[in-house]
Amino acid sequence: MRVAIIGTGYVGLTTGACLAFIGHTVSCLDTDEPKIRALKSGQIPIYEPDLEDLLEDARPNLTFTSSYAEAIPGAEVVFIAVGTPPTPSGAPNLEYLSQAARCIGQHINGDFTVVVNKSTVPIGSGNWVGSLLRESSEHRTDGVIPDFAVASNPEFLREGTALHDSLYPDRIVIGADEQRALEVLYSLYRPIVDQTFQAPTFLPRPESMFAVPLVSTDLASAELIKYAANAFLALKISFVNEIGHLAECVGANISEVARGIGLDSRIGPRFLNAGIGWGGSCFGKDTAALIATAGEYGLHMPIVEAAKIINSRQRDRVVEKLLRELKILKGRTIGLLGLAFKPNTDDLREAPAIEIAQKLIDRGVRVKAHDPIALERFESEHRSMGVHLCTSPLEVADGCDALVLVTEWNDYRDLDWDLVAKKMRNAFVLDGRHALDADKLSRAGIHYVTIS
Ligand code: UDX
Repeated sequence: MRVAIIGTGYVGLTTGACLAFIGHTVSCLDTDEPKIRALKSGQIPIYEPDLEDLLEDARPNLTFTSSYAEAIPGAEVVFIAVGTPPTPSGAPNLEYLSQAARCIGQHINGDFTVVVNKSTVPIGSGNWVGSLLRESSEHRTDGVIPDFAVASNPEFLREGTALHDSLYPDRIVIGADEQRALEVLYSLYRPIVDQTFQAPTFLPRPESMFAVPLVSTDLASAELIKYAANAFLALKISFVNEIGHLAECVGANISEVARGIGLDSRIGPRFLNAGIGWGGSCFGKDTAALIATAGEYGLHMPIVEAAKIINSRQRDRVVEKLLRELKILKGRTIGLLGLAFKPNTDDLREAPAIEIAQKLIDRGVRVKAHDPIALERFESEHRSMGVHLCTSPLEVADGCDALVLVTEWNDYRDLDWDLVAKKMRNAFVLDGRHALDADKLSRAGIHYVTIS
């Protein structure tokens, strides 16, 4: 099938690469012309494992353009995968979405076209995008009467495993109020639903993977599924962190508690890792948007709000623990191990490291930091913070009064902690992710503390 994708960010580029890889003809559009030129020359603006290889394999079916006139006419499915960044009120900024919808409305031709919201959009946006499409197509002067339907196909990609989550998803959700739109999307995703595509050599099909459940529903339900899923995952993390705080008071081991509850098949072991909490471009934005949407109906969402409050508190607890250990923060040097919001990505959006660094800097601390992948992005996006970036963890440790493990990159688990201890002015490590070997650090003479 012929597919157009508007937006070449984490979602658009990953979705385009996967659909092209399984055999569809895909045109990826972005209004950022330098980004399109870079993509055409094989440069990838984001770090996502295996994406470069998949784009190479998919290249015969993939084109990049910044022209709607080139990408839209003839496309049977048009995905909108543009950013919907949060506004101060929590409601998402929809200017990019409305711009894309208007441009699509001006360029779709007379053949039936399914316009799909892939971006995380407020509940009810499907109808709003539909009205924008109708409005822009009514102003056309070429006499074409577009025939389209709007659908929702929320993404459940985790950065760092986006390709796996696209080719081997737990489920595919499609929502539309017209059956023919659902049929087009089922046809588009058939190779993934049936798992009949040839798996990439670098990303083999999981042995237990035979078919993928397809949830076919109405627009509003599909949009709410996305928000409810992310809010629940965020809640699960904040729940374990709330229990973790109590565990610390009573001398319990939160990792053991998480293991003990996670073995209950009704709870499950994942997303119960206690620590400094969640970051990233989704959980904070989606929980805020959910609360904002509920507010439009006069509803409160105290459980979702509590998840955000607890998550925010985890950052403060890092500063509290450093203060308790060092007594005075002003003038100290504190090193952060990890900047990205989680391992295997260079994404710094809502990264806990940034909030923690700022809180320390505001208290007169000299902050040093390292990250295996995100250093360059940090330098270009947060240079003004004045964080001293280091090219190795040992350089961070040199002269430090404390080290904080913020992102659980594997690079940090295998450090020479004897050498780290010798480099530090004060051998104190605060493990924000319960990721390090407490015995190994203690043997190196390091005072080891966790955030739970
Ligand atoms: C998330 C959702 O998982 C994904 O389905 C959705 O499409 C986009 O948002 P992502 O933000 O890429 O994906 O990362 P995820 O792996 O979910 O982790 C989010 C944050 O939670 C990270 O900061 C991570 O460090 C933190 N986390 C995760 C925990 O603190 N504890 C856990 O047990 C798991």
